[in-house]
Amino acid sequence: MSVNANAILSFLSIFLLMSDPPEDTILQCLSLHSDPSYPIYTVTYFSNNPSYPSILNSYIRNLRFTAPTTHKPLFIVTPTHISHIQASIICCKRFQLQIRIRSGGHDYDGLSYVSQSPFVIMDMFMMRSVEVNMEDETVWVDSGSTVGELYHGVAERSKVHGFPAGVCHSVGVAGHFSGGGYGNMMRRFGLSVDHVLDAVIVDAVIVDAEGRVLDREQMGEDLFWGIRGGGGASFGVIVSWKIKLVPVPEVVTVFRVEKTLEQGATDVVHRWQYVADNIHHGLFIRVVLSSVKRKGQKTIRAKFNALFLGNARELLRVMSDSFPELGLVGEDCIEMSWIDSVLFWDNFPVGTSVEVLLQRHGTTEKFLKRKSDYVQQPISKFGLEGIWNKMMELEKPVLALNPYGGRMGEISEMETPFPHRAGNLYKIQYSVNWKEEGEDVANRYLDLIRGLYDYMTPYVSKSPRSSYLNYRDVDIGVNGPGNATYEDARVWGEKYFKRNFDRLVEVKTKVDPSNFFRYEQSIPSLAGSGLRIMSE
Ligand SMILES: Cc1cc2nc3c(=O)[nH]c(=O)nc-3n(C[C@H](O)[C@H](O)[C@H](O)COP(=O)(O)OP(=O)(O)OC[C@H]3O[C@@H](n4cnc5c(N)ncnc54)[C@H](O)[C@@H]3O)c2cc1C
Ligand SMILES: *[C@@H]1O[C@H](CO)[C@@H](O)[C@H](O)[C@H]1NC(C)=O
Repeated sequence: MSVNANAILSFLSIFLLMSDPPEDTILQCLSLHSDPSYPIYTVTYFSNNPSYPSILNSYIRNLRFTAPTTHKPLFIVTPTHISHIQASIICCKRFQLQIRIRSGGHDYDGLSYVSQSPFVIMDMFMMRSVEVNMEDETVWVDSGSTVGELYHGVAERSKVHGFPAGVCHSVGVAGHFSGGGYGNMMRRFGLSVDHVLDAVIVDAVIVDAEGRVLDREQMGEDLFWGIRGGGGASFGVIVSWKIKLVPVPEVVTVFRVEKTLEQGATDVVHRWQYVADNIHHGLFIRVVLSSVKRKGQKTIRAKFNALFLGNARELLRVMSDSFPELGLVGEDCIEMSWIDSVLFWDNFPVGTSVEVLLQRHGTTEKFLKRKSDYVQQPISKFGLEGIWNKMMELEKPVLALNPYGGRMGEISEMETPFPHRAGNLYKIQYSVNWKEEGEDVANRYLDLIRGLYDYMTPYVSKSPRSSYLNYRDVDIGVNGPGNATYEDARVWGEKYFKRNFDRLVEVKTKVDPSNFFRYEQSIPSLAGSGLRIMSE
């Protein structure tokens, strides 16, 4: 873009910032377009409302975005009725405000609640019914629900049903499902999106001054495909999801086993790479690697966390046949119900009441950064030793290795926008957390995690180096201000979606040509660009 156009754009945005439409005008618009039996002003919070700061902050899960310098929304709307969503879209369009849609608020880079342009937060936390229907083993779950509320609702009704989704109970279903959603049953059942049957979305199209509310049949298979892994916020506001439950045994088994370098961690992790994606599909063994001190000496600790969909006797047989190197013994194994295994994996002590799954807050928030990679070839012992040295040098960053294979390898890359299926041994999550405030500190920690990510380049997927959308990472590329071009968005888009990026662009161009739903990593619309995607 030329300097001139840039100058005009920034002049325009300053102009818009200075001339925020008055509160009354906005409220009039909102009221006019929503159902008067559910007065929208009672769920609309401008910055002069005493509840504004607490509502804004209650779903900020990364303290980096609570700084006073972080851009704040003009107002927050917390819909309790679908017409509140329709009215917000109509009025935000009219006043040229962007909408950030927030469900659980776990977006690692804060894209569900921060924007550089004048914006509004639509926070879904009031809409969270979980309607379990045991007759056809389905659930209608509202977007504002957490996966914990979903698991709780299912466990209340059945001991032999579960759902394959994330491990942390406070994750919101809408961000989670619309980005794929994986958990410790993925080798047996695939992702959350592989079990979505229907959804309800409000898109940006306005007919006779009313926003459209579409279910699967009305939205069509292309958009329904797009929201199952392409990120919901490029397409509209997803209100609820219909999912199919999966069968789980009455007794499952979990274990946690640790090895340091002195206890042979290198050999065991090396071996794990050959085993974890091939082993019994009901067995998921995650490895968490961190740099720790033992007796004053730095070492690497490998924690093996497992869920097995079966009893301990069967698990011990599987392990002694396929992975004797870990040395698992009967005392390591704990048998429990599936719902208790959910609590165990979420780090609650054994015996904790299932009711904690309903807590939406409680964990202390941190400053954090996450990144992701996919590994397709086992890393040699020599390679692992180099990684250990790098980790001990950097100290802070932690790696979590999540095995693929099983059901994941049986589903085509094109089935949903989430493309990381066959051919992947495991996914890496890089994480760094810190407690100190300030930008210098943050930059120091960001450098550490980026340093480790760079170091890993030779060992991970290439052309493109893939990333998982739900491990949101703005380092891999972002759209500029205004309408992103296809070329700009492709930089990050192919990392998340590989060849599915093009189909997502087609869907976007069809359902939101004017690019109303846009943010730093939204799918671009080709409308008005003169470009077309060539479908094969
Ligand atoms: C502690 C923790 C544990 C995690 N564990 C796992 C895990 O085990 N497995 C896994 O796969 N991921 C995991 N994640 C990542 C998680 O899946 C993503 O962060 C997910 O996007 C969070 O969804 P959310 O609704 O909480 O986030 P939000 O921040 O609310 O939203 C994330 C994105 O989705 C959009 N969005 C939200 N609601 C809607 C809606 N109703 N309609 C349209 N778009 C919407 C937002 O605008 C944003 O772009 C974890 C994250 C955290 C913080
Ligand atoms: C983006 O493109 C659409 C479609 O051509 C157009 O209607 C809209 O005004 C553009 N928006 C911006 C911010 O340039």
